[in-house]
Amino acid sequence: MILYFTGTGNSRYIAKRIVEITKDSILSINERIKENDTSSIETGKHLVFVVPTYAWRIPRLVQEWILKVEFIGNPSVYFVMDCGDSIGNAEKYIKSLCDQKKFSYMGVAEIIMPENYIALYDAPKEKESRRIIDNSDQQITKVAEDIRDGIRLRSKSIQTMDKINSGIVNPLFYRLIVKDKKFYPTNQCVGCSKCENACPLNNIQMESGKPRWNGKCTHCMACICGCPVEAIEYGNKSVGRVRYWCAK
Ligand SMILES: Cc1cc2nc3c(=O)[nH]c(=O)nc-3n(C[C@H](O)[C@H](O)[C@H](O)COP(=O)(O)O)c2cc1C
Ligand code: SF4
Ligand code: SF4
Repeated sequence: MILYFTGTGNSRYIAKRIVEITKDSILSINERIKENDTSSIETGKHLVFVVPTYAWRIPRLVQEWILKVEFIGNPSVYFVMDCGDSIGNAEKYIKSLCDQKKFSYMGVAEIIMPENYIALYDAPKEKESRRIIDNSDQQITKVAEDIRDGIRLRSKSIQTMDKINSGIVNPLFYRLIVKDKKFYPTNQCVGCSKCENACPLNNIQMESGKPRWNGKCTHCMACICGCPVEAIEYGNKSVGRVRYWCAK
């Protein structure tokens, strides 16, 4: 079973590429979290989590969801983390999660994909995004083949900065940065409700035809990047920035 969580489509793309090679079934963690569904899951041949990197670790909401769900079957587990730049020392925290879940840990792959965090950074334009994805395609194939063949993924070497980012910056990031107060709809909003439907945490409600954010956000960027008329801003940070959506 290949499970993925995604804000803007990168992780879904990678999950589908893996499925082409391993022939496993695929499941959206977004849908499970949105439906508050923590029912048990049959793992099949492989259990693979494909997730974006949030502050040098797996997304906290995914970690919390995994802890609540019972996985029945093969407890050998792979993680595939896509990132704009680095997953840091995420492996340390994944191993500890695997210990708690009694999973047999098979490794984590770091896959570079286009940056989507437009609340803080620029995202690449379409041509550059395609180049980044094309560059990673061979690695995605290799990771999928290793998963299919039951080969353990090799660990990356860890620097001091990786330990600081995953260990110290990550909790500060959630405490200080991950808030939704700065989101607002502009006059371009046509009231289509796409943002409301896209939010995995049901944090957006339409009120008088406009979205309202309700304080339970994980900064996945699905609402702001998925708006068909680019009518969502995040303070003045996002103004003029490319909205990223995986075109593959
Ligand atoms: C809240 C947030 C935090 C992020 N933190 C990191 C990070 O620590 N390191 C990194 O290289 N990329 C980081 N990124 C970039 C994403 O991990 C990357 O663009 C990923 O491929 C997005 O996947 P998705 O399209 O499936 O959501 C962050 C993005 C977001 C939205
Ligand atoms: S997706 Fe955009 S246009 Fe649609 S309701 Fe949300 S803000 Fe408005
Ligand atoms: S409010 Fe927007 S950024 Fe926050 S979790 Fe929902 S879709 Fe993601």
